[in-house]
Amino acid sequence: MRLSDDFISEVKYRNDLGELAASYMQLKRRGRNLVGLCPFHGEKTPSFNIYTENGSFYCFGCGAGGDVISFVMKIENLDYLEAVKFLAQRAGMSMPEDDYDDSMSRLRTRIYEANREAARFYYKKLGEREGAQGLAYLRGRGLADSTIRHFGLGFAPESRFALGDYLLGKGFTESELIAANLVFKSRSGRGVVDRFYNRVMFPIIDVRGNVIAFGGRIMTDQKPKYLNTSDTIVFNKSLNLFSLNNAKNSKSRAYILCEGYMDVIALNQAGFTEAVATLGTALTFDQATLLKRYCDEVIVCYDADEAGQKATARAIDILRRAGIVVRVLRIPDGKDPDEFIRRHGDKGHAAFKNLLESSGNDVDYRMQQLKSGFDMNSPQSKLGYLNEGVKLLAELDNPMERDIYASKLSDETDVAKPSIMEQVNRLVKRKSYNRSKDEFKQIQKNLSARDDRINPQHAANLRAATAEENLIAFLVNNTDKLGYIESKLKPEDFITDFNRKLYVYFCERIKNQKEPMTTVSADFTADEASQVYRIVTSYSNIRSTPQALDEYIGVILDEGTKMSESDIANASTGSLAEYLRKLAEQKK
Ligand code: UTP
Ligand code: MN
Repeated sequence: MRLSDDFISEVKYRNDLGELAASYMQLKRRGRNLVGLCPFHGEKTPSFNIYTENGSFYCFGCGAGGDVISFVMKIENLDYLEAVKFLAQRAGMSMPEDDYDDSMSRLRTRIYEANREAARFYYKKLGEREGAQGLAYLRGRGLADSTIRHFGLGFAPESRFALGDYLLGKGFTESELIAANLVFKSRSGRGVVDRFYNRVMFPIIDVRGNVIAFGGRIMTDQKPKYLNTSDTIVFNKSLNLFSLNNAKNSKSRAYILCEGYMDVIALNQAGFTEAVATLGTALTFDQATLLKRYCDEVIVCYDADEAGQKATARAIDILRRAGIVVRVLRIPDGKDPDEFIRRHGDKGHAAFKNLLESSGNDVDYRMQQLKSGFDMNSPQSKLGYLNEGVKLLAELDNPMERDIYASKLSDETDVAKPSIMEQVNRLVKRKSYNRSKDEFKQIQKNLSARDDRINPQHAANLRAATAEENLIAFLVNNTDKLGYIESKLKPEDFITDFNRKLYVYFCERIKNQKEPMTTVSADFTADEASQVYRIVTSYSNIRSTPQALDEYIGVILDEGTKMSESDIANASTGSLAEYLRKLAEQKK
């Protein structure tokens, strides 16, 4: 069963896209529209547009588009029904219960429930004889019982059937538990076996409070040290962060980014609830964008080893691109934050606070890293440092920042600041020129349909496809012309399959007295919906007179009959017959 058009219209009506989007990003008014830096890809010049009169958006940079529902789907990583539910809640509307039974959404709900039950089960085991070893392990790592409870840490017993049997007994099906990645189908034939056994368990909880996955640590030196839930339909490890639910409540706008679960937990215990960690992978741009929603500044606090320092350089770059201010904290003596805090015992808080306060910004850090690779006593090597330093400064967007570090570089190398600045400015100019050229090229590429994945016939039939798109935009914006258009143009007349599908779709809706766009985000995939919104929002840029309409129709019919010689040679008899029929029709 699906949600009624009326309900969807009401949800959309009560959730203004511009207002909602403004809570995720900065928007500027431009005429009737709003523009901003696209939250779905990295860019420096805004190509993300919100069309306020019809509540839709389109990004000319990455081609993302849609309505307020698509926006929430993308930015909150939800499926269609969840996004509708999210918006309904936001507007204080209740969901029509009967309609809410899409099977995918139901499975997600079941997985959340299974995960929650699993977390309870693991936690309970810690208090039982079976879990004594786990509890001793966690306490041995310096965790207070209140911390263990706060994070809901637990223990997966040694038996390979403990959790599976328990959850099956609670009414979950094997396929639900497999979909949650809590169990595997057993090879021996006895139903399912637990994914986690004989490990201490770390539940991973999202910002809405759902248990979405687990990390499990072995209590010995065996490998793998941590085992994590594989990606499921509720969990994508590169889209989530450990303990973001706690950090979100910390009220701090400067987060501490660590490598490990234990680092975050130790920091929380020491009073730093603004700590988060990635989930066993390198930081992704999506995670940086997610962070940007909750904080303005990130202090990178990775392990002191070489791998940690490599990861730091990468993280700095990604965080900066997401528009986050970055600082880097170095932990002395090659420790990780967990070890550092534990070693300072009661004074853990004060000691770490000290480190935080002395943490330099990312530019300091990178200059230091850079400098350590050069011998400042050799003129040749010094020149090398200067060249690399100038490149680093040219990457900074803020002119004041460039100025400050040029002074520093000048002090370090005894080269006059003006000549350093001259080099920097030259590079900055070239970079900004290249960047706008690249972004412009990308937009052109999107407009020229050179790699239109949704409508692969677009590029080879540019004239026809453009006319088709204009016609569709015209139809959706002038539904009263349906009769006229249909009398001239049959679906078979369309050259490209995707546009034909759209034509049939909109004709059908308009005929049934439905607003054409209301359920586009439900009826098409996200990428297809983006395309539909691109086509329909282009209406403001095309001619919309009755003459223009006739021209669009004319071009489509004309292109259809104008099959090239090679097409005819290659054509199957069926389409050849069709071609001849069209020719005959035109003669009439
Ligand atoms: P580390 O190896 O730095 O471990 O991995 P740690 O956090 O210091 O662990 P402890 O203190 O020995 O318990 C950092 C993070 O990388 C992921 C985990 O998320 C871990 O917290 N990881 C590590 C895995 O996913 N699998 C592994 O086998 C190891
Ligand atoms: Mn550690």
